[in-house]
Amino acid sequence: GPDISVATLQADLNQLQSIATANGGNRAHGRPGYLASVNWIKSKLDAAGYTTRVQSFTRNGVVGYNLIADWTTGDANNVIMLGGHLDSVTAGPGINDNGTGSVSLLEVALAVRSTGFRPSKGLRFAWWGAEELGLVGSTYYVNSLSTTDRSRIRAYLNFDMTGSPNPGYFVYSASGQPTGSTELQQVIQGYFSGIGVPTELTSVGGRSDHAAFARASIPVGGTFTGAEGIKTSAQAQKWGGTAGQAFDRCYHRSCDTTANINATALDRNADAIAHAVWTLAA
Ligand code: PHE
Ligand code: ZN
Ligand code: CA
Ligand code: ZN
Ligand code: ZN
Repeated sequence: GPDISVATLQADLNQLQSIATANGGNRAHGRPGYLASVNWIKSKLDAAGYTTRVQSFTRNGVVGYNLIADWTTGDANNVIMLGGHLDSVTAGPGINDNGTGSVSLLEVALAVRSTGFRPSKGLRFAWWGAEELGLVGSTYYVNSLSTTDRSRIRAYLNFDMTGSPNPGYFVYSASGQPTGSTELQQVIQGYFSGIGVPTELTSVGGRSDHAAFARASIPVGGTFTGAEGIKTSAQAQKWGGTAGQAFDRCYHRSCDTTANINATALDRNADAIAHAVWTLAA
């Protein structure tokens, strides 16, 4: 897969920060910063030739939105899907949670166009609404699919928090959910071992949007650099950073800003996403 530019990812995070700042400080469900962020990502995908769709749903009497983008070529009966949530909590701008996954997916999607990659499989990207209210957008999307459309999705990869300031390199464990996929786990592990970065498997269970896909019997995988959990000394030895401190001390707090990012973790995970797309959809 191509090398995703960390400078571009950081510029995108600055843009999400600016949108939040101009809209009350967040990208939460039902707040103006959310739809403004959807529209910013959508316009970039549209300009690159994606077929985009904004799917609305209602939660707490408020309209929320999923953004879905399909690449124009590839086998629509065999789709590789990737996603992450774009909403934040109300407390802050959610730059690590989950600006990071959101901009990484965006730049991998744009790289499909800029490199001239012609995937043989169908390729679909999603930015979910209202994850923070209980995986609402992704669950709505999966429930909205016909049985046939569900069966066309061969894999779903989820990216939620990929630039934690005191990072761990976690790969969703195939055995950690009902439809965890050894193939997906190994493609991601293979990328990190190729760049000499040790990983650990993690059982993310129902804590992010892959759960809706797992419930629908779709193979799932993903990466994660850690939230409120505490880095052990063994983990600090292999990954650097600070033992005894959270992977993300600003998790769900107002300090989850552009200052709350480890650029190396952000970059490596975006490159891992690109590797997964180029491997799985080729
Ligand atoms: N989904 C959690 C949140 O948005 C974060 C998380 C991601 C936790 C992945 C575990 C695994 O707050
Ligand atoms: Zn690669
Ligand atoms: Ca890179
Ligand atoms: Zn969160
Ligand atoms: Zn999250």
